[in-house]
Amino acid sequence: MMRHRMAAVQQLSDAFPLGSRLDERGRLQIGGCDALELAAEFGTPAFVVAEDDLRARARAFVQAFAERTGDFDVLFASKAFPCTAVYRVLAQEGIGCDVAGGGELATALRGGFAPERILLHGNAKTEAELAYALDARIGLIVVDGLDELDRLQRVAGPSVRQAVLIRVAPGVSPDTHPAISTGGPNTKFGLNLADAQVAIDRLRADERFDLQGLHFHIGSQILELAPFRRALEVVVDALGDFGTYDLGGGLGATYAGERPPSIEAYVEGKVRMVEEVCGPGRRILDEPGRALVANSTVTLYTVQSVKRNVDTWVAVDGGMSDNLRPMLYDARYEVQVANRFGGGTRCHVTGKHCESGDVIVRDADLADPRAGDVLVTPATGAYGYAMANQYNGALRPPVVMVADGDARVVVRRDTVEDLFARDVDG
Ligand SMILES: Cc1ncc(COP(=O)(O)O)c(C=O)c1O
Repeated sequence: MMRHRMAAVQQLSDAFPLGSRLDERGRLQIGGCDALELAAEFGTPAFVVAEDDLRARARAFVQAFAERTGDFDVLFASKAFPCTAVYRVLAQEGIGCDVAGGGELATALRGGFAPERILLHGNAKTEAELAYALDARIGLIVVDGLDELDRLQRVAGPSVRQAVLIRVAPGVSPDTHPAISTGGPNTKFGLNLADAQVAIDRLRADERFDLQGLHFHIGSQILELAPFRRALEVVVDALGDFGTYDLGGGLGATYAGERPPSIEAYVEGKVRMVEEVCGPGRRILDEPGRALVANSTVTLYTVQSVKRNVDTWVAVDGGMSDNLRPMLYDARYEVQVANRFGGGTRCHVTGKHCESGDVIVRDADLADPRAGDVLVTPATGAYGYAMANQYNGALRPPVVMVADGDARVVVRRDTVEDLFARDVDG
């Protein structure tokens, strides 16, 4: 009975990268590499990305669409993990890319995306960003507001021929954290339906622009499909039918206690809803961010201290400088000792930063954590690296890509010099 319970405890959850396993000593292996050896070689904290996982999820999206429709594009919502090596892997898998500004556009081009496979969105694009996108001849610019349309029409020269979408705020709020709900009636993103009609009329009257369709993104970490359909019905009802629909991203990742629909179920739902609401033959764009990258990655930390006060506080060498999501949206992560999976000690895993709110996992259950242990939090590929910062002089972690037993650093750890790199005086 006891042996049975131990075996059950030692199953890896779906939050870990595909292909991860516990070896016969109970040590975590990712991409064929031993987590403790990675921690020793590259130091902690460190982001460890399983390359095969990234590729498999990109292929799953493409295949799921290809089996259901002839006219689609999958665009990596690159704000989730805007690192050149990740762009490169996903570009090799033949998907497109969505960027939320000029900086991500530059990185996407550097990472190997063809300009025509790139879509630029964002609620406050500057004139310089719009000019850059036009010069780079990217595939699509998503018009987000009437002031922005003024800017776009001003910077576009007479010879410009640019495909555009209009981002609409459908007034639909999915069941997710308010900070990642983006399509409700009072959002900063997109045009309300009345302004959208004005933008449509202006774009149709301007031969430099080819208005291809509508875009909306109602939020992130969405676990059910009904809100997408409600949003689609609202915008088509108000604005009419178009040839292209970009229904945004938003498919949830697998975090502690959160189980999203499969990629196949999500794609099936989206293709079917466009067919049912608009008819066959529409082009469908999808912008997965976290669903592509979150579960590809784990963060490794080293425990610095275990304090037993009213609760037990396990402090590690990273925190809100490498994972802001728990502080931003109360995000929940799994955590384990990398060579002792299981439980028994209720504790809070905290960061090293000078903030009481710097807690990575509240109410964790670890197997007898001790100073020096390596901890692992899975599902940190989305918005971990992207939001990493140097608070308290933190040296941002390296990104280590693993595959077939090989590990390579694709982003180095910050050095102390990086903390002063932008100083121009003193
Ligand atoms: C326009 C747009 N597309 C795609 C995404 C990606 O979302 P997610 O990471 O939840 O898939 C976002 C995130 O907010 C977004 O604003």
